[in-house]
Amino acid sequence: MSSLNLVPASTEDYRRIAERKLPQFLFDYLDGGSYAETTLRANVSAYQKIKLKQTVLKDVSAVKTGVELFGTPYGMSAGLAPIGMGGMYGARGELQAKAAADALNIPFTLSTVGICSLEEVAQVSDKPFWFQLYMLKDRGAVQQMLQRAQGVGVDTLVFTVDLAVLGARYRDKRNGLSGGTSLAGRVRTAMNLAGKLSWIRSVGLGGKPHTFGNLAEYVPNASRPDDFQAWITQQVDASVTWKDIEWLRGIWPGKLIVKGILNSEDALEAVQVGADGIVISNHGGRQLDCVDATIDILPEIKAAVGDATAVLLDGGIRSGQDIFKAYALGADFTLVGRPWVYALAAGGKQSITELLTTFKSEIEISMALTGITQSHEINPSVIRTRA
Ligand SMILES: Cc1cc2nc3c(=O)[nH]c(=O)nc-3n(C[C@H](O)[C@H](O)[C@H](O)COP(=O)(O)O)c2cc1C
Repeated sequence: MSSLNLVPASTEDYRRIAERKLPQFLFDYLDGGSYAETTLRANVSAYQKIKLKQTVLKDVSAVKTGVELFGTPYGMSAGLAPIGMGGMYGARGELQAKAAADALNIPFTLSTVGICSLEEVAQVSDKPFWFQLYMLKDRGAVQQMLQRAQGVGVDTLVFTVDLAVLGARYRDKRNGLSGGTSLAGRVRTAMNLAGKLSWIRSVGLGGKPHTFGNLAEYVPNASRPDDFQAWITQQVDASVTWKDIEWLRGIWPGKLIVKGILNSEDALEAVQVGADGIVISNHGGRQLDCVDATIDILPEIKAAVGDATAVLLDGGIRSGQDIFKAYALGADFTLVGRPWVYALAAGGKQSITELLTTFKSEIEISMALTGITQSHEINPSVIRTRA
């Protein structure tokens, strides 16, 4: 029996609304992964194979989802992952996401290639946020960006290391994002856009400028995302090694998290170079396809590094129950990617806040029905089986 579908209840509901509202090429850019999207699907389905152990008749009248990371208390063990071009999915999208994250007392991570700049995001509130860095060939620009980040109160740097080259994303190619569009293709794009009037009004016209705010001063004469994309493509530095992390460590006084770790050897290297944390991540299944689902590799990496560094994880989290499972299997913290952007596209700050509130209450329910009242009591004993 189908429901009335009056109120979005889950990530999938926001995803469907986003699909209706967004121009096709933007929805596909967000929703898609690389190659046959095997890892993208595995990230999500791996959670469904993890069964929980229900425990009853404990006093669970006061359940608390709060955790601490690097000495900072957060409302739950999840933050917002860095997403490039967030401001194409909602007017000044990064500002709306930061406000929603503030409301739940969780961290927001601004991407190097966000539409809004560090300075603009800092205007939202006094609460610190995190900044994600891609290493650019122009080390002067990198150094300046880090100084700007420090200047606006960023306390945590997320350094992404899994984009030495770009994974092939078939949906983007089909949509002409890699060039080669015929006249007929351009007409089809225009016809698709004509059906997305609310996006054109609110984001296309109302969300300008569509520049990459953090990079605007380093890319002369650029005015459209395409101009920045071209600059980024030639700036991505495929020669980066662990030595560069030592360099970063030397110039960045705050917390440093290395994002894009998928095996124990690299995790131990990250510990060696002084990373305060790692993010087990396959970039949401957008880079190398057919790698492990992140939740599957978590126990092995956690066993290798122990408490030597904070272990964060992202990829495939679609509910509070997924966050609970990741925490139970050893993640100190998680990051949520696509879900916050689906919600942004569906209904802006309010929808992101509603989705995050749902996630929080799902963690509470998972805790209560496994007989737990405090986050630090969550451990692998709540997991029944892993298929
Ligand atoms: C549209 C899109 C843009 C992204 N942009 C960035 C980025 O700029 N920097 C980065 O480190 N990761 C980026 N990521 C990866 C996310 O930070 C995160 O690792 C991934 O989305 C987690 O998987 P999930 O979407 O299944 O939650 C992007 C992901 C998507 C879907």
